[in-house]
Amino acid sequence: MPLSIQIADRHRFQVEFRSAGLIHYDLKPVLVSDPLPLTGLWSEQMPIKLNVNNVAATIDVPPDTPLLWVLRDILNLKGPKYGCGIGLCGACTVLVGGHAVRSCMTHVGSVADQPITTIEGLSPDGLHPVQVAWEALDVPQCGYCQAGQIMSATALLERTPQPTDADIDAAMSGNLCRCGTYTRIRQAIHKAAEAGAAARAK
Ligand code: FES
Ligand code: FES
Repeated sequence: MPLSIQIADRHRFQVEFRSAGLIHYDLKPVLVSDPLPLTGLWSEQMPIKLNVNNVAATIDVPPDTPLLWVLRDILNLKGPKYGCGIGLCGACTVLVGGHAVRSCMTHVGSVADQPITTIEGLSPDGLHPVQVAWEALDVPQCGYCQAGQIMSATALLERTPQPTDADIDAAMSGNLCRCGTYTRIRQAIHKAAEAGAAARAK
């Protein structure tokens, strides 16, 4: 029997499970004219202070709103991308306190007052060593995943300035690229590491 799941004000999905050894399901989006009341599904709105790219902002949203929604839809920072929405692709990666986090899975209320960095705030001129290496090696193809890749690479180099291939593979395994740019990503991380070592030696 089809189940009806409402995920936003007016969008409801008809979900039908059919069992034949494995469970299959059909998703049929339905725009509804009689949305179910969502009272109780979300916590109450409240002012939340954020520090994004060294700019203070106070937003008024429920604290369990995904950080990605706030960045893209309220602060108009479109660098972090929506890919899977469940923490599996890395397209939405940003830095929180220098650590790479999946903003699609991070409640905005949990990062209040912590320094948040998106690709837009990585450097004022696009000349962060990771960005320079990315450009020199012409890493991106379609580009969709690349902001997330760069943020994860930046976090890796912050804690491991001279990563091995194994370090890179471990740190970047959660960032997927449907264009298969993995070889160039690894080369670019090594190049950025070399640039960092040269800068420290001066
Ligand atoms: S959109 Fe966040 S991990 Fe895929
Ligand atoms: S460059 Fe296309 S998804 Fe990575």
